[in-house]
Amino acid sequence: MADQSAGVPAPQRFRVHHLQQAKERGEPLTMLTAYDGVSGRIFDEAGIDLLLVGDSIGDNMLGHPSTIPVTVEEMLPAVRAVSRAARRALVIADLPFGSYESSPAQCHATAVRMFKEGLAQAVKFEGGAHLADHVRLCASSGIPVVGHLGFTPQAENMLGGKRVQGRGDEAAERLVADARALEEAGAVAVVLEMVPAPVARRVTEVLRIPTIGIGAGPDVDGQVLVWTDMAGMGAWSPRFAKRFGNVGEELAAATRRYAAEVRDREFPGPEHSYES
Ligand code: KIV
Repeated sequence: MADQSAGVPAPQRFRVHHLQQAKERGEPLTMLTAYDGVSGRIFDEAGIDLLLVGDSIGDNMLGHPSTIPVTVEEMLPAVRAVSRAARRALVIADLPFGSYESSPAQCHATAVRMFKEGLAQAVKFEGGAHLADHVRLCASSGIPVVGHLGFTPQAENMLGGKRVQGRGDEAAERLVADARALEEAGAVAVVLEMVPAPVARRVTEVLRIPTIGIGAGPDVDGQVLVWTDMAGMGAWSPRFAKRFGNVGEELAAATRRYAAEVRDREFPGPEHSYES
């Protein structure tokens, strides 16, 4: 991809202390997934604060049935491409299933790879209080961690499918306790996925660090969507996602116009040809 930003002064980088500032000022944070340099550059230039190279690359880009088969080796080139493309946004790398859970040392080693090889500026992983030591080790060695609570796709098989989490008093209290444990361990933000809006509001009120919702209602500190859902790329998107465009249709229409012009020998015309 050509560097179209050459010579243009770099904008001020969005950094972890801006997360806190945004919460204190009541300014909603914007976050989108990105999986390559092209989308990363477009979202960065559009002013998105946080780019998540999500393990949702698995089911959205790589043809996996879910996020579970995604490997560190699959994540790294995507993280590197987005990191190189983003001039302002904070780039967060997801740690894929099996690459961090078994010990703080395993988690730290994978996070270090995301930093050194992927050039990420933060990592995200799924889970609550039982991963507090994992968060603590990363944070104490200079790796900002974003937590992920509520519906955690890597645990889909334990959770019995894609289901709203935190329903009922006991589950809601557990979620609040998990969020507090992550904050105390040094997490810089927490993603809340598919959580009832009142529970997400409660977590947002008790935490000092920002919450970023996906299917968690409006009373959180920021929102995240999978970019293909946001842009209208697929035939299906979850109930909580809104389509802000019809990029899939536009891409298909451009592709049909291109194919038709090639077949009709209209393209390339004289303006697209070199005579000498
Ligand atoms: O991988 C991903 O896209 C995510 C978002 C759903 C938050 O974790």
